[in-house]
Amino acid sequence: MKISIAFATLSGNTEKIAYELEKFLLNKSYDVDLLNLENTKVDELKKYDLVFLGCSTYGDGDLNLIMDIFLSEAEQICHLCESTKFAIFSLGDSIYPNFAIAGEIVEDKIINMGGEVIHPYIKIDGYPSSEVFEEIKKWTLEVLKFF
Ligand SMILES: Cc1cc2nc3c(=O)[nH]c(=O)nc-3n(C[C@H](O)[C@H](O)[C@H](O)COP(=O)(O)O)c2cc1C
Repeated sequence: MKISIAFATLSGNTEKIAYELEKFLLNKSYDVDLLNLENTKVDELKKYDLVFLGCSTYGDGDLNLIMDIFLSEAEQICHLCESTKFAIFSLGDSIYPNFAIAGEIVEDKIINMGGEVIHPYIKIDGYPSSEVFEEIKKWTLEVLKFF
């Protein structure tokens, strides 16, 4: 099974989570690529069986700009998803009313493009810490049960 962890980050927090997730999966001998969506073509995701898609929330409960642009391009060509399965991790800060809502926006867009989201998205609160890393590992094990 080929996995990618594709992330969009503005200040680096989503990248830190993505990097921990990559280490976790590599330790379990999965075939994993880490992709920064700023430098990734929409078509590239199609070659993976499973994509962990990471995004942070900005504005008044919006996607960060990098994910927004990436998904807008995907919607235009509308073939991001055919045989790829997705699981989404969403960063935010619970001081905001729309806490980590980016995950919901990404999930909706993926589903509208015909993609399959195989496990509910995880909300990650605040700066990446060892507790957050443990939380994401537990969630990842739940995602992997699908296969
Ligand atoms: C200007 C600004 C607006 C933000 N808006 C939200 C928001 O509406 N909801 C939320 O949950 N988090 C919000 N956040 C928090 C970020 O999502 C959080 O800091 C996240 O860890 C950033 O991840 P990144 O470094 O990968 O971009 C906001 C942060 C900033 C600086």
